[in-house]
Amino acid sequence: SFTAQVDSVLGLMTLEEKIGQTVLFTSGWDVTGPSMDDNYREYIENGSVGAVFNAFTTTYNRELQQVAVEHTRLGIPLLFGYDVIHGHRTIFPIPLGESASWDLGLMEKTARIAAVEASAEGINWTFAPMVDVARDARWGRIAEGAGEDTYLGSLIAKARVKGFQGDDLAANNTILACAKHYAAYGAALAGRDYNTVDMSENEFRTTYLPPFKAAHDVGVATFMNSFNDLNGVPATGNSFLLRDILKGDWDFDGFVVTDYTSINEMVPHGYARDEKHAGEIAMNAGVDMDMQGGIYMKYLKQSIQEGKVSEKDLNDAVRRILDMKFRLGLFEDPYRYMDKTREKEEVLSEEHLEVARDAARKSMVLLKNDKEVLPLKQGARIALVGPLVKDEKNIIGNWAAAGDREGTAVSVFEAFEERLGKDNVLYAEGCKVLGEDTSGFKDAIAVARKADVVVMVVGELEGMTGEAASRTDINIPGKQKELIKAVKETGKPVILVLMNGRPLTLEWENKTADAILEAWWPGTMGGYAVADVLYGDYNPAGKLTVSFPRAVGQLPLYYNHKNTGRPIQPEDPDQKYVSRYLYTPNTPLYPFGYGLSYTSFAYEVSTDKQTLVPGETLTITAKVTNTGERDGEEIVQLYVHDKVASVTPPVKALKGFEKIFLKKGETKSVKFELTAEDLKFFNPELEWIYEPGMFELFVGGHSDMPFTHTFELKTE
Ligand code: IFM
Repeated sequence: SFTAQVDSVLGLMTLEEKIGQTVLFTSGWDVTGPSMDDNYREYIENGSVGAVFNAFTTTYNRELQQVAVEHTRLGIPLLFGYDVIHGHRTIFPIPLGESASWDLGLMEKTARIAAVEASAEGINWTFAPMVDVARDARWGRIAEGAGEDTYLGSLIAKARVKGFQGDDLAANNTILACAKHYAAYGAALAGRDYNTVDMSENEFRTTYLPPFKAAHDVGVATFMNSFNDLNGVPATGNSFLLRDILKGDWDFDGFVVTDYTSINEMVPHGYARDEKHAGEIAMNAGVDMDMQGGIYMKYLKQSIQEGKVSEKDLNDAVRRILDMKFRLGLFEDPYRYMDKTREKEEVLSEEHLEVARDAARKSMVLLKNDKEVLPLKQGARIALVGPLVKDEKNIIGNWAAAGDREGTAVSVFEAFEERLGKDNVLYAEGCKVLGEDTSGFKDAIAVARKADVVVMVVGELEGMTGEAASRTDINIPGKQKELIKAVKETGKPVILVLMNGRPLTLEWENKTADAILEAWWPGTMGGYAVADVLYGDYNPAGKLTVSFPRAVGQLPLYYNHKNTGRPIQPEDPDQKYVSRYLYTPNTPLYPFGYGLSYTSFAYEVSTDKQTLVPGETLTITAKVTNTGERDGEEIVQLYVHDKVASVTPPVKALKGFEKIFLKKGETKSVKFELTAEDLKFFNPELEWIYEPGMFELFVGGHSDMPFTHTFELKTE
């Protein structure tokens, strides 16, 4: 810890200089929002800004840093923040897609590479990872997280934080991470962005809080507030979240930044009278840094003079920010994250691109494969049809801030052309992603007729997910569905490759297409990865981390729901007066944990005991055999159902998983160890406890399977 150094700097600071450290402004380009202020250079010179975001490249950031270090009274270096969300220049699959790999090592590695590239270009702080559990596919930001499950999401949060921050924050290729958006942003009512969140504390602590705690446990340096209110209090003014939990119970010693103008937004929330009042609420609640809102800059001095905010709280905020600057080594060398040689050699290196290709392949989920239409047969004549076949812009996805959308990214078309030779790929766009024009259908039908198989690349535009991109209809938009129908009518096998950032409603497509590969937004090397999977050079192994609904009306939808007092009886699915929809099953089209392979796996499950007592371990063994014709990977999953508890339990909950590789014909045993600790939950008094009783075990390759074993937890 740098307490002595921080105190010695703090001791030299005027009130204005202290406030300056709590101010974060975006650099001049790429700015939005009413509170935008482009005087950031002047502010830096005045010592009125402690951090800048949206600035990168060694040259530009060096210039700004020089102003802070050489032209201000105390020469305190700036932090440089940026949304390095799924890669910096080398873009990996969108986070939701990457989570479908269930490969924690891979996710740590891609975050590491993102940090290596970003830190070479002047950035020392990323606004990632997003660790919001999200169960409503209408919400566009579902693309940025790790899906619907708290257990898996917490492990992924840890992996990503470790990747960004490495073992040593002072190394010149590690950066500060930021757990966002604190908290419960993913539960925005009706999937509408920025919307209200109202939930019990039990549900909040059970489902939404743990990934933040997980990020904290591995030392995440910063937290970002969410935009939503939680049970009537905006997250940015929520001292329960910030002072009681984060800085109290967890003893978090990093700093908290707002999400953009979330302090200002407490006025329209109806929680603050005016902006000055909003600033007072935020500082009193424990918000250390004001991103872009300019509220602390404008009003904090007056609020302190009037006694509405204590200088002690301001000092605490400044200490936290200075401490991070010391931890990064910025006082030693303010230019250590601006390295022209590294920028040239490491950014978009061959090695990084290879990892991007691997990550993209591992993220893809095979949703359907009728009559083994995939993998594609060598020599088969292929027609590529659809608005996203030649796309290089959308393929890297939303929040690929510094990613190149015009040259580096490899489209599906390019990858096929490279594989099959220049004139051997039939192609027609067919239609656009959005719009009414169907005049391209005839070309699509014509190329389909000439081909043995049609690969159709369809989906969403990248801007249809991410921030402020909620949808009420989560179908494949525009005329694409009609295009699929028209192509299918040629009688040729149709393989859909989907590029999208959220679960889509695919009931019709599931009936119509011969195969469906969910490719998400696969990133810079996406085209190659799609071809690798379609040709079977890589056997797909991704599994959904979010349920795909049949209809938008099922949302929010997640596998670990409660049973209700009137569950559907499987033997009578049409029964009235049970908890169900008319005309649509309750179940998802594709469940959490689901994904096919070009091979098949058989399971034999056993347990070593039927009674578990605290202090002992129950071992569950899954003997998995590759029964198909190819080598492949399987993600072996363990779910547990607590049959009776003092708070109604979910029908099942993920408690463990392992990704294994099996050669054709090979058998491997996976062992899961459960203790009473794994069976804990929050009781009505919000105590984290286990209770005795019966439990059911489910082991297999997805979440929708019957239980095979039971055991009893005996506490006496
Ligand atoms: O980091 C983001 C955040 O997730 C959404 N609002 C803007 C921030 C900075 O770009």
